[in-house]
Amino acid sequence: MVRKITAMVAAIVMVFAFASVSFAGWDKCKGCHTDANKPAPGKAALLKKFKAAVDFKKVAKDSKNPMMNAFKGDADLDAAAKELGLK
Ligand code: HEC
Repeated sequence: MVRKITAMVAAIVMVFAFASVSFAGWDKCKGCHTDANKPAPGKAALLKKFKAAVDFKKVAKDSKNPMMNAFKGDADLDAAAKELGLK
């Protein structure tokens, strides 16, 4: 129970921390989407899974993970997709 609450608080703090940083594009995502694929799949893993920007954006928007809530805007997703080389 305590662990669960701690994890939830940590997740919320992280979302606010990342959302308030004025990075653009993939820089905004890579705090979570790390090369170690933790807590979220990194660049290589995402590129393996998604071949088109439309799919990438759709899945990002459909994500049920609360950590993604602040990163579903078209501006963020378009910039990130472009940086990853998705068309
Ligand atoms: C606060 C951490 C965090 C940030 C920042 C973040 N994400 Fe995520 N994202 C996650 C988590 C956690 C998941 C769920 C991973 C899973 O289900 O394995 C996820 C899932 C995704 C998925 C779906 C992956 C899949 O295979 O289902 C996409 C696409 C995605 N994020 C794109 C982005 C983009 C683009 C950005 C930057 C604009 C971003 N994310 C920023 C945490 C984050």
